[in-house]
Amino acid sequence: MITNEIKEKLRAIVGAENVLDSNIDRFGYSYDSSFVPLVPANNPDVVVRPLTTEEVSKVMALANEHGIPVTPRGAASGRTGGSIPLAGGISLSLDRMTKILEFDEKNMMVTVEPGVRTVDLYNFCADKGLFYPPDPASWKFSTIGGNVAENAGGMRAVKYGVTSNYVMGLEVVLADGTVIQTGGKAIKNVTGYNLTQLFTGSEGTLGIITKVLLRLIPMPKVRNTLQLMFYSLDDACATIHKMLQSGVVPAAAELMDKMSIQAVARHRKLDIDPAIEACVIIEIDGDSKEDLDKQAKQIETIARGFNVAEVRIAQSKQEEEDIWAIRRGLSSAVGAMAPNRLGEDISVPRNEFPEMVRRIRKISEKYNLPIAVYGHAGDGNLHPSVLCDLSNPEEAERVHKAVDEIFAEALAVGGTLSGEHGIGITKRPYTLSALGEGGIRTLKAIKQALDPKGILNPGKIW
Ligand code: LAC
Ligand code: ZN
Repeated sequence: MITNEIKEKLRAIVGAENVLDSNIDRFGYSYDSSFVPLVPANNPDVVVRPLTTEEVSKVMALANEHGIPVTPRGAASGRTGGSIPLAGGISLSLDRMTKILEFDEKNMMVTVEPGVRTVDLYNFCADKGLFYPPDPASWKFSTIGGNVAENAGGMRAVKYGVTSNYVMGLEVVLADGTVIQTGGKAIKNVTGYNLTQLFTGSEGTLGIITKVLLRLIPMPKVRNTLQLMFYSLDDACATIHKMLQSGVVPAAAELMDKMSIQAVARHRKLDIDPAIEACVIIEIDGDSKEDLDKQAKQIETIARGFNVAEVRIAQSKQEEEDIWAIRRGLSSAVGAMAPNRLGEDISVPRNEFPEMVRRIRKISEKYNLPIAVYGHAGDGNLHPSVLCDLSNPEEAERVHKAVDEIFAEALAVGGTLSGEHGIGITKRPYTLSALGEGGIRTLKAIKQALDPKGILNPGKIW
């Protein structure tokens, strides 16, 4: 699809060494961290690695002129196939755009390029006493551009919200190469439609994000982590529910069911009491040690009311990090339990969270499929992971039915298909039931207006 003449033009824009078209490179850019099967059809024709907005603009103008599909790519840590070049064409990797461009201490804002790693941004701000809270589980390798494109969430969403709550403005290269700026440093801004929020979570289908203006907040003075073990999943859910209702607002409140705990135990060679059915990991933060002690005491008292088996309060930074490393490695640990895993990302109203867990367990029994349940219980965002072998057609059939039912139940309790991973490829079949015909028509009208030739990340969302 891409002629040598076009490749020459791409080399002239970004430099020959930043245009990759060997088979191995094309393969390397054909997959991401989702569970979309590897197929040669997903190889891009060419990988292009621009360094500046101007280069991105020129690449887009060329692609638009020739109708070449462009799939933007951050660290490929996405879970729904957002960076997989379904239609071939250009894989536009933003990995060389890694500058922190401006730190505005007075306004507590930072402007970065899309390829900055989330953890690097966090550390940069933390050194200055400021806090960038969104912390997707993949933050050690995910990039800000990808986080914005997918509106990534994370553990701290309970108290601090998700990526979109921090995006103040964007620089975006449109499909035809036009560069626009959205939003800005003014806190109040109703000048026209809110394009900043429109592009945030648009999964690379509306434009290429080349700069991100983020607001920061003061870093909490102290924080600590608690790990609670329960003999019953219901007791764990009830503890989280009661804690939130009683006004204790943890920074994070994560839940792992027995299967998830066992996956971790196997992965890390830990010895865990087989009677333990659920683990809750909570981060608290505040102004003083007394404040933390008070919150920890309140949580412990509530947990004791629900027969907690063990309460561990981290005694050192290292212990805190060890507990969170277990949680952050969970997805890989669960994935290693079966030949295939379909990891979902439903999000339900917080009060429906225990009910949703019960419904997932029923689905697991009905279809005789192991479903590990873990996730961000504090904000109602769950990752049920169906463990399966898709090479067995009869089992694959059951898996698809179980997944359909999980989504149907999430919608039935007032929830949604995706809390933080986006729709991408994997959730496309379900958007109609979630958004309705009018909703889909509206989304498509926006897409048509911004990308009339349909070159930006084709095949995603619908
Ligand atoms: C997590 C990712 C899968 O929470 O969102 O582990
Ligand atoms: Zn998650």
